[in-house]
Amino acid sequence: MKARIIGTGSALPPKVVTNDDLAKIVDTNDAWIRERTGIQERRVSDAAVATSDLAALAAEKALKASGLKPEELELIIVCTCSPDMLFPSTACILQGSLKAVNAAAFDLSAACSGFNFGLTTAASFIESGKFKNILLVGADTLTKYLDWTDRSTCTLFGDGAGAVVLQATDREVGVLTSFMMAEGQLGPVLTMPGGGSRDPEEKNGRFIKMAGKEVFKFAVRVLETSIKKILESTGKTVEEIDLFIPHQANVRIIDHVSKKMGLPKEKVYVNLHKYGNTSAASVPIALDEALAEGRIKSGDLLILSGFGAGLTYGSNLVKWG
Ligand code: COA
Repeated sequence: MKARIIGTGSALPPKVVTNDDLAKIVDTNDAWIRERTGIQERRVSDAAVATSDLAALAAEKALKASGLKPEELELIIVCTCSPDMLFPSTACILQGSLKAVNAAAFDLSAACSGFNFGLTTAASFIESGKFKNILLVGADTLTKYLDWTDRSTCTLFGDGAGAVVLQATDREVGVLTSFMMAEGQLGPVLTMPGGGSRDPEEKNGRFIKMAGKEVFKFAVRVLETSIKKILESTGKTVEEIDLFIPHQANVRIIDHVSKKMGLPKEKVYVNLHKYGNTSAASVPIALDEALAEGRIKSGDLLILSGFGAGLTYGSNLVKWG
C-alpha cells in the first residue's frame, strides 16, 4: 500500500502586513527584510482567530477536492506548535468542527518540520494497512507569539494553514520514501519557553526566541542531508526531480541548497515573499498553490522538505498521481 494525496487546500488570514508596516513599529526597513530573507509581506490573524479556525478552512477545501465526506476519515493529524490550547488537541477540536465522527485525532509537534513529519506518519499508517483515509493539516498562528519589539524575529513569521487528504492505493504513487531526524542538543537555538510545564506562568516570556545565524547554518546543512537521504534510498537522481517544495523560511536558505544540489530555479517552488514563514503550514500551502498554478502534473516526482525547532528536519519523496 502507498499513501496518495487526493486533495489539497489552504487558508490564509485576509490581513496583509507589509515590510513597510513593520518599519513603522520596529527599527527595520523593506530593503533589509527583502535582501536578507526574501519576504515582502505576511498574513496576520485577528485576535479572535485560533489555529483550528484556519485548519478547518484548509481542511474543508482539501476534503472538497478529495471528494471524501468528513465521516469517511479514519484519522486526523494536525501538525502545529501553536495549538488552540494545551488540551484538547487542535486535531480533536478540528474533528469536532468537521463532524468527522469516525476519525481518531491527535496533534504532532515538530514545529516547522511538522508537515513533513506528519506526512511520513500518515503514510506509515496507510502503508501498514491501519487506515485508508487520513486528513493531514499543517497549521500555525505564530504571529501570536512574536515579540513585536524584536526585529530579528517579528519580521520573519506569518499565519496560515494547509491540508491534504491521503488515501491508500496499490499503485506505485504517493509517498515513495521518507526521512526524518531530530537534533535535540541544538534545541536552545529556537524556543518558545513560556507556557509549558517548565514555566506555566510564562516568566521566561511567551515569545519566540531565536539565534538566527545558528538556525540558518543548521537549515542549509540538514536540507542537503535529507534530500540526499531520500534520493539515495530510492536510487533517484536530482535530475529526475520535477519540483522541490522546501519549507519557506528564508529565500537565501532555499537558493543556497538548490544551487548546491544542482536544482534549477524553475524546479524550486517559492512563495515566501507573500506569506513569510508560516511554520508547519508552509509546505502544504506551497503544494496547494503549486497545483493551482499547474506546476505539478501526474507522474511528477516531488521532494517536500522541512526543518525547524527541535531542532528537527525531514523530507518526503512523492510521486504525483
Ligand atoms: N532589520 C534590520 N536589521 C536587522 C534586522 C531587521 N529585521 N534583523 C537583524 N538586523 C540586524 C542585526 O541586528 C545585525 O546588526 P548588527 O550587525 O548591528 O549587530 C545585522 O542586521 C545582521 O544580523 P544577523 O543576525 O547577522 O543577520 P543575518 O544575515 O544572519 O539574518 C536572519 C538574520 C534571522 C534573517 C537569518 O539569520 C535567518 O534567516 N536565519 C534563519 C531563521 C529561520 O529560518 N528561522 C526559522 C526556522 S524554521
